Parts: sequence; structure tokens; C-alpha cells
Amino acid sequence: MTSASAPSFNPGKGPGSAVGIALLGFGTVGTEVMRLMTEYGDELAHRIGGPLEVRGIAASDISKPREGVAPELLTEDAFALIEREDVDIVVEVIGGIEYPREVVLAALKAGKSVVTANKALVAAHSAELADAAEAANVDLYFEAAVAGAIPVVGPLRRSLAGDQIQSVMGIVNGTTNFILDAMDSTGADYADSLAEATRLGYAEADPTADVEGHDAASKAAILASIAFHTRVTADDVYCEGISNISAADIEAAQQAGHTIKLLAICEKFTNKEGKSAISARVHPTLLPVSHPLASVNKSFNAIFVEAEAAGRLMFYGNGAGGAPTASAVLGDVVGAARNKVHGGRAPGESTYANLPIADFGETTTRYHLDMDVEDRVGVLAELASLFSEQGISLRTIRQEERDDDARLIVVTHSALESDLSRTVELLKAKPVVKAINSVIRLERD
Ligand code: NDP
Ligand code: HSE
Repeated sequence: MTSASAPSFNPGKGPGSAVGIALLGFGTVGTEVMRLMTEYGDELAHRIGGPLEVRGIAASDISKPREGVAPELLTEDAFALIEREDVDIVVEVIGGIEYPREVVLAALKAGKSVVTANKALVAAHSAELADAAEAANVDLYFEAAVAGAIPVVGPLRRSLAGDQIQSVMGIVNGTTNFILDAMDSTGADYADSLAEATRLGYAEADPTADVEGHDAASKAAILASIAFHTRVTADDVYCEGISNISAADIEAAQQAGHTIKLLAICEKFTNKEGKSAISARVHPTLLPVSHPLASVNKSFNAIFVEAEAAGRLMFYGNGAGGAPTASAVLGDVVGAARNKVHGGRAPGESTYANLPIADFGETTTRYHLDMDVEDRVGVLAELASLFSEQGISLRTIRQEERDDDARLIVVTHSALESDLSRTVELLKAKPVVKAINSVIRLERD
């Protein structure tokens, strides 16, 4: 639907017309966007049907040295820049939520199409942004917001628009994948691996959003919204990070032929009432080494999609970094610019399905439990009957002798998350259980 005042069709400026760009942010991503636009300007003009012309670049401090940029392009006043009549597309690569929200909303209201790499913004305010784009009849693109260079938003929105997506599961955070891979391949502990990720520039000075899963949760919200035609925000996503994963967890995973990955999992399923529902969650997950996502190493990202007709698809590549992210941003700029020149709009937000978003407890998971228990007759039977009383079936049990106790590693079959988590609480209360060392969810091939 369009607002009463907005034209229902964008006729375009006509072939050969210049497309004015306002670049907001000139950091890791912004400098690469500018470099690519400058270096490949002629080619991009052919692809679009008119040249891209940068009208201005906003940064927080324009007194910083900026190599190769005409000083008159720089401004600290992003609002004045986006309001200029000769600006058609606003590229937001600032980061954060509140300030970019205001500036992006102002740009959309002023009739500018917006391209953003900002997952935190899109995941928190998708409804408001989509409504503003719709009302102004302009485009809102955010391919770079999920998994950097990897084309996944476009394929979900366009290429798979005729299919029924059942699940989207992926490694969507490069920093945590780097840390887990370092722990897995070198035996290093979490703190040393995080320090290495920081030294190499993968982790930010404050890595909280990465290691606690919030960055991945924003991406999961975006993926679930598009895949299931339902509005999902970051607050709807269950989120657990990797800061509790220990070298002992990694070793136990390896002994069982598994590896640990931080996964974003978005699923459509049938709930207790027999109705379709969706869930989105982020947590450390044990994967068998034969799983396609298990071999995604270092800071790479990958997204695994299952659709009714297409079957299983996997998208793999660089999930972060200036140039890879700028590639996705520029792809969106070309799309938005084509529409400015030739007319029309990109597909907007689709929320017609409006499926209920399940609580985490309603989802089906499998647990890998590592505990220390008393080593005496009857303990195994006592614990096995507790699982059975809670309706949970056990897949494997492994016991290791210790000096004065035993280590028990239990893998369950799939069960309701609420039943599994209640069972862990009951186990903690059992005098024969000395410690629960870790509880990690598990996916199968
Ligand atoms: P940086 O911190 O490197 O750059 C941020 C830029 O924004 C800087 O140029 C800064 O100015 C500018 N800025 C800050 N505040 C303002 C303001 N009030 N007005 C105008 N400009 C401002 O961030 P990144 O380039 O790494 O990230 C940008 C966005 O891209 C974020 O949303 C991020 O999540 C997303 N993204 C980043 C990826 C990456 O690998 N880096 C990957 C995928 C997405 P100044 O130069 O003066 O400091
Ligand atoms: N901090 C993010 C990551 C950047 O590590 O993947 C890309 O969104």
C-alpha cells in the first residue's frame, strides 16, 4: 500500500541521468564503497544507465586526514547532506542504532532511496523503516547487513520468492567463528583466541555484540523476516553467546566427532495446536564434522537454506571486512540507482504470513550434557530414569572414570527445549550430580 501523497509509480529520471549519492560514514566500509565507486565509475554507469555522482560524505570528524577525497565533499552534517535536491540515494555505513535511525528515516521521508549495511538498525526498526520507504515510494536495501559479501537477502527475497522456505541456518558472525575455529584447531582457550581475533582486527575493541551473540541475533531476525514473510525483530530471537565455551567443551566435541559453531537458526514448524509457527535462535551448537557448516573455518560465514522445491542450498564467503562488505553495498547501490534512472521499485518488506513467533521453550532441540557424577552402583540408572520421567529419550551415554567421581556425557534425542531445560534443573538438584560442566545444543546432518 502507498500513502495518499506518494506517487504510486516511480517513472525514473530517464536513461543517461546522473544519480546523486550521499555517503554517510567513511570508516572501514565507507572508504571501500568510495574506492569502488571511483575506480569502477565508468563500468557502473553502463550497468546502471547513468553515472553515480557522490554529492557528499558525512563523517563524525572531518579534520581527520582522508586520503584521496576532495575536502569539499566532507561534512559533519549528515542531515543537511541528505536533504540536498541532487541526492537520490543515501548510503548509511555509520553503525549504531539511534542516530542512523533518525537520519535514515529523514532520508526516506525526503524521497531518497537508502542502502544500509547496518544490521542492528534494520533488526530493531524494520517496520518503521519499511513503512517510511513504502510511503515515499523509494527503495530500502540492506544486503550487506547479513553476512557481508554473501548474497543472501537478494536470493531469499527474489530468487526463492516462489518457493517455501523451511529453515535458514547459518554462521553469520565472523569474529565468533574465528574464535571457535582457533580453539578447535589449536586447542587454545577462549580468552587467548579472543585476544588473537582482536589482534587480527576481527573483533572490535568492545567485542560484546559479537561474542554474546547479539550481532548474529540481529542477522537472524532479518533472515527470519524475509524467509517467513513475518516481521521478526532482534528481541524475538533467543540469544546465547560463546563466552562460556571452554577448551574442555571443544575437546569433548572432537572426541564425539563434532565441532562447535555459533549458529543462527530460523525455522518454520508445526506447533502444539497444529498451526505453522516460526522460531529464531542463536546459540553455540555441536555439529557433526560431516555437516556442510562444520567446515566453515576462520572468519568465513555460510548460510544453509532448506526450501521445499529447491532442496538444500548453501551460501558461503566473506562475512565481514571493508571490501567484501562494500561489494554488497555497491550491488544494492546499483539496484537502487537503476530504479532511480529507469523507474520502478525493488521488492519491499513482505509480512503477509504474519506467523506466530514461538517462545524458545516451544522449539525442538537436542542436548549434549557434560556432567560430573558420583561413581557408584545405581547412579546411571537413577539419572536415566530421570530423563525417562521427563519424556526425554537418550541417544548416547559415555562415561569416563576419574579418581573419585565419573564424567558422564549424555546426548539426547530431540525434545522440547522447555522439557530439556527443566530436566537440567532437576539434574542440578540431584545429590549424585556433582557438577554440570556444560550444556550445548546439537544439530544433525
Ligand atoms: P567504522 O567505525 O569503521 O566507520 C564508521 C564511520 O561513521 C566513520 O567514518 C565515522 O566517522 C562515521 N560516523 C560516526 N558517527 C557519525 C555521525 N554522527 N555522522 C556522520 N558520520 C559518522 O564502521 P564500519 O565501516 O566498520 O561499519 C559501518 C556499518 O557497516 C555498521 O553498521 C556495521 O555494522 C556495518 N558492517 C560492517 C562490517 C565490517 O566488516 N566492518 C561488515 C558488515 C556490516 P569518523 O571517520 O570521523 O570516525
Ligand atoms: N562483527 C561482525 C562479524 C561484522 O564479526 O561478523 C560483520 O557483520
